[in-house]
Amino acid sequence: MTDQSDNTGRDSDATALPAVDEHLVSGAGWRPYPATMLGPESGTIARAYRPGGDTLVRLDNVYKSFGSLRVLNGVSLDIKRGQTTVIIGPSGTGKSVLLKLIVGLLTPDRGDAYYDGKCVNTMSASGLVGIRKEIGFLFQMSALFDSMDVGQNVEFPLVEHTRMTEAQRDERVDRVLRMVGLSGLQRKWASSMSGGQKKRVALARAIVLEPRLVMYDEPTTGLDPIRADLINELIIALNTKFGITSIVVTHDMASAAKIADRMLLLYDGNIICDGDPETFLRSENPLVQRFIQGQADQIELESIRQGLGTDKSAE
Ligand SMILES: Nc1ncnc2c1ncn2[C@@H]1O[C@H](COP(=O)(O)OP(=O)(O)OP(=O)(O)O)[C@@H](O)[C@H]1O
Ligand SMILES: [Mg+2]
Repeated sequence: MTDQSDNTGRDSDATALPAVDEHLVSGAGWRPYPATMLGPESGTIARAYRPGGDTLVRLDNVYKSFGSLRVLNGVSLDIKRGQTTVIIGPSGTGKSVLLKLIVGLLTPDRGDAYYDGKCVNTMSASGLVGIRKEIGFLFQMSALFDSMDVGQNVEFPLVEHTRMTEAQRDERVDRVLRMVGLSGLQRKWASSMSGGQKKRVALARAIVLEPRLVMYDEPTTGLDPIRADLINELIIALNTKFGITSIVVTHDMASAAKIADRMLLLYDGNIICDGDPETFLRSENPLVQRFIQGQADQIELESIRQGLGTDKSAE
């Protein structure tokens, strides 16, 4: 059951998405902020901090466990409209779970998730359909339909959620594929695309409904540095040109420093550091610094050495 109504009128307007700026595709010449890698010692900041608007997403004291595994342990968080918020944290710490709670794919055990002032975890099925039309989700594994071609994959949300004509859908699909640099590849099988191409098809699908919020789960993982930077540019462009609020989960610190207005570190079930990139990256919290600098935990290293038989204490 899908709710076909849309009081914004956006769905019926195939031309609402602004015309493609070739700079979006090429990445050349359109660079609103210096593309410097921000390290703790660099002394420069990639983006000027923007305070953002009112709260678009709110988590209020959210707990989530799977069986005996406690993943989120009372997380509270406000995401400001218009900002790009980057979430980093160790593997398995609950970053993807957190995104899924926001869009109602998972439900908190305790606490509440709000989107635009509405409580997501108590929402009706039609309410959830409504917010999912406003939230684009780039899943960690792209999650394309292998049995469909690229065009059908990207068109899918338009078929599900709008009353657009076929011609309008074709035009919109063409436009978003151009935005991600995959123009003319509509009839290629999704299964025949490379990992990086799949990510971009998934991104095209995530933005095809002109969402207000896009959540990107590891958008640059597995991409070569040039493709990764293209994705960074797209995230920035969607945010600054079209006003899309972004939440980006990433392990890619160069990407984080380039795109973030705000950075969060999720660790052991809680947000332990939260601030603008400059403040965040200069944090004296040793966990933050270890994470930024990619330093392995000494205890974990020791256990690997023991497993490999290279442990000095065992000699
Ligand atoms: N549907 C589920 N059922 C059971 N366990 C789950 C489910 N979803 C996530 N988990 C568990 O919750 C923990 C957090 O998972 P999550 O996918 O959010 O990690 P992550 O921080 O995104 O990690 P990564 O950086 O590797 O993507 C993991 O231990 C995972 O196995
Ligand atoms: Mg994940």
